[in-house]
Amino acid sequence: MTISTESVTGAIPSTDELAARIAADLPRNFVWGAATSSYQIEGATTEDGRGPCIWDTFASTRGKTRDGESGAVAVDHYHRYRDDVALMAELGLQAYRFSVAWPRIVPTGSGPVNPAGLAFYDRLVDELLAAGIDPWITLYHWDLPQPLQDLGGWANRETSYRFAEYAEHVSTALGDRVKHWSTLNEPWCSAFEGHLTGRHAPGVQSAHAAVRSVHHLLLAHALGTEALRARGVADVGITLNLIPAESPEDSPAAADAVRLVDGQSIRLWLDPLLRGSYPADVVADFAKVGAELPIQDGDLARIAAPLDWIGVNYYAPHIVVSGPDPDPTPIPFVAADDLTRVKSTENVTALAWPIRPRSFAGLLRRLDADYPGVTWYMHENGAAYLDEPVADGSVPDPERLSYVAQHLDVVREVVQEGVDLRGYFVWSLMDNYEWAEGYKMRFGVIHVDFDTLVRTPKSSALWYSRLIRDHRAAN
Ligand code: NOJ
Repeated sequence: MTISTESVTGAIPSTDELAARIAADLPRNFVWGAATSSYQIEGATTEDGRGPCIWDTFASTRGKTRDGESGAVAVDHYHRYRDDVALMAELGLQAYRFSVAWPRIVPTGSGPVNPAGLAFYDRLVDELLAAGIDPWITLYHWDLPQPLQDLGGWANRETSYRFAEYAEHVSTALGDRVKHWSTLNEPWCSAFEGHLTGRHAPGVQSAHAAVRSVHHLLLAHALGTEALRARGVADVGITLNLIPAESPEDSPAAADAVRLVDGQSIRLWLDPLLRGSYPADVVADFAKVGAELPIQDGDLARIAAPLDWIGVNYYAPHIVVSGPDPDPTPIPFVAADDLTRVKSTENVTALAWPIRPRSFAGLLRRLDADYPGVTWYMHENGAAYLDEPVADGSVPDPERLSYVAQHLDVVREVVQEGVDLRGYFVWSLMDNYEWAEGYKMRFGVIHVDFDTLVRTPKSSALWYSRLIRDHRAAN
């Protein structure tokens, strides 16, 4: 099998050749994992005392998700977790990144803890540990309890305090066995897709609410980290979608658009976390539309408390082109998401996200240069395709396999240069509910038949599994 890259001279390496050099070059303790999230896989949304969350509400609102699809059943992981862990073990995964559903733990958002909800994660963690798989918990992957949304959700500062209470409950129950904790997944999406474009739950379209949410999400991270530390958790981080911006155009307008997108997707998060302040140009962009970060005394110092690592989610760069926006967002300062969708069918995934491993390499080098001393993990990387089984029952997914191989080869390259990147979690372990896109777009390395819920490892899973074993054997 051959692959294409953006800047290849000479022979193009096959995915087997890439696997050989990745296995040989990555250090012995490199972590190999796969990732999922609660709402996207669990189903069982009304069982064992789980309360409603904003995605239940959003998906049941007409026109918000593809064909009105929801996570009500998803891939039924809630009932099939044992089989799923067995599959992970068969593939040789060392680590599994999953999220805890807040509405299972505190169904009313602020009331008593639901022991049956905690019990599910207790069983899951024990199953993982028995299989020799290291659990990596994400506390918030977008399923906010609906009662908290009814009080204003992330636009309300109180939600950050509720998050800290929830973090305390989960770490009290699982902190004896789970070492690695991420507070939030992709707060950029929660703030901007949830409150500006309205394409994600809760579907709000307000610059004011989006900017308030940015700060309250970071505050929640800070207060949640304090709660975890108080419970003795030593390995804490946050997972961010850090999207590099680039433009084929050489004009002041393009340069400013790149600055704007870069500011909102990268610096808006990393600067307060690692430097103790918000970037002045982004704050000025917000002010142009009358939006302000609701910072109170002491917040910035708490947000900048030391972390053990930062999880990076990377899929594609934002490619910025000037001209009228074909799909205008309600607010000028965040055209960002629309601009990711390059109007081209060349070298893109099924979601039309451009495949650019060189942009990925540039991102990792830039993170290392601009924010020195940070330990990074790849918490998500992967690609959507419309995979289906062929006659013999196998599920070939050569495009995904090639995507993963090319991006892992970039990881190999930058690690060799000295970037402190210690692990890779493919998104996703299995096909699942891709939010507003419903079930059509498949990200799994394991195929799921959404009618029978049968799981079948795709060729990418088999390649990944062999790579993990070869890496172990080489070290
Ligand atoms: C980021 C999100 O964390 C995850 O939930 C989503 O499915 C993938 N990206 C793919 O869009």
